[in-house]
Amino acid sequence: MDQGSLRNRARRPRQTGAAAVGLALAALLLLVQGAAAGMPRLETQGSARRLVVDGEPMLVLGGELGNSSASSQAYMAKYWPKLKAMNLNTVLAPVSWELIEPKEGVYDFSSVDGLLRDARAQDMRLVLLWFGAWKNSMSTYVPSWVKRDDVRFPRAKSAPEPGQAGGVSQEILSAFSVETRDADARAYAALLAHLKAVDARGTVLMVQVENEVGMLPSAREWGPEADAAWAGPVPSELLERLANGGEAIEPELRALWKAHGAKTSGAWAQVFGDGDAGQEVFTAWFYARYVEAVTRAGKAAYPLPMYVNVALNRTGKAPGEYPSGGPLPHLIDVWKTGAPSVDLISPDIYFPNFSDLAGRYKRPDNALFIPEANNVGAPETPANAFYAIGELDALGFSPFQVENADDTAQAAVTQAYGVLRRLAPAILAAQGQDSQGGCKMSGFKPRVLEDGTVLDAPVSQTIGDYRFTVGFLDPWTPKADQKTAGHGGLIIQIGPEEYLMAGRGLVVTFAGAGDDLALAGIDSAVEGVFDAQGRWVPGRVLNGDQTHQGRHIRLPPDQFQIQRVKLYRYR
Ligand code: DGJ
Repeated sequence: MDQGSLRNRARRPRQTGAAAVGLALAALLLLVQGAAAGMPRLETQGSARRLVVDGEPMLVLGGELGNSSASSQAYMAKYWPKLKAMNLNTVLAPVSWELIEPKEGVYDFSSVDGLLRDARAQDMRLVLLWFGAWKNSMSTYVPSWVKRDDVRFPRAKSAPEPGQAGGVSQEILSAFSVETRDADARAYAALLAHLKAVDARGTVLMVQVENEVGMLPSAREWGPEADAAWAGPVPSELLERLANGGEAIEPELRALWKAHGAKTSGAWAQVFGDGDAGQEVFTAWFYARYVEAVTRAGKAAYPLPMYVNVALNRTGKAPGEYPSGGPLPHLIDVWKTGAPSVDLISPDIYFPNFSDLAGRYKRPDNALFIPEANNVGAPETPANAFYAIGELDALGFSPFQVENADDTAQAAVTQAYGVLRRLAPAILAAQGQDSQGGCKMSGFKPRVLEDGTVLDAPVSQTIGDYRFTVGFLDPWTPKADQKTAGHGGLIIQIGPEEYLMAGRGLVVTFAGAGDDLALAGIDSAVEGVFDAQGRWVPGRVLNGDQTHQGRHIRLPPDQFQIQRVKLYRYR
């Protein structure tokens, strides 16, 4: 109901004043509820969490902009149609503290409003990235009035050089400064209040709090406040989580705690040791507490879903060589305890071992969202999207620097997202259903190790009453020409013997599962698409050479596609 109809009702002559007020209040309630129904939120389905927008679940097929692009609406103008044509439904765009609060307490939301206008013009959504106190550890996106006042907004200090007292100042704001935290939280809350005022229709789906937090180049901050906190007791919430969490605690943290006597009280160095690993747990806790305060301030203004992103590390690096204390896999429990208002911990995955890293962020208390997945041109990126969404129930996926996709990357993302977009209703219905009696969907891609070794032996998975074996080497392509790290896809059960198979570079064989009727064949295999209304539009009926005379389903390596397959059993 709009304001006009409210006014018309109030003018009707036979209503009493009280009745009119009652009606107006009821109408207002409807308006508020309408806004709330449209407001993006997270909802649980089985073992998955889904993003619900306008009352409907949504799969985020996103792309993150390069860091500086969104600071100029003119610069971005030529890219919006390209992003739309690539089948993205969501753009991840930075909003920096320096742009929205150029003078303390004076806000300028023109850059945010420009983003909203441009996204809406393409019928796209946004995820906003709050570049507040920290962006990739550093504090370069803070306003000038913050940068220049190092008394009020002190710098973090790294470990003292030999012979020096007090540590070395970094261009990183201290996580121990209440002034900094409160100023950051005020600006963030102002941003969320602005979104509440101008975005009742839910163009903004989620907000990322800070960007890739973590201390450099030491494992912890030094200086009077940090040193005092380091000498203080480990908070009881964290100790209780360790004591009660059992096997659910990430193994590295549990091992560190146990190696120092599994203490239930004590100072940081006593509980976790005074080496880099112990210092990193300390750092994680204080970053988490800071981020919790900023998140809470934002949610008090407008409770959109919020997440933190993660700069991951390579094996063998020491904290401080990589951003120490960020929400890395071994510190997820510290962050979950210290920052309970943060909905999701979301890894930025640039390393080859995508499935291993992504897998660590799917936990009963954390749903997977991938805000940065390689630069958009990486050949394995689209396959990783299928895997994350199909196997790990990711609620969204987003390659980095998406606007700069060259022709090859643009074609690959367009095709992959085109398939995922049309499959979204089936994917969203199947996500999380494994906890409710049998797996309905599985994702497949070769496992790649950190050093880039591709393990592309076939893998097997039971879905419904059939056991599938999925190979990644295409039988009809010379082996030397195959880049199997870029192969991947998913299988969704849509009926008792019916499956959707989508992706590229997969060869699928099948057998009956669960009883002795193991022989299975293809009743029918049809390639096709779903139209915009979700209706199946069949293409070729595949048989003969296309199924190797009934022996397999083949998704060719050179294109993403969907096949609808009905199986049967025989003796
Ligand atoms: C991760 C950061 O979160 C991004 O903002 C960007 O700096 C990329 N790294 C660059 O690879």
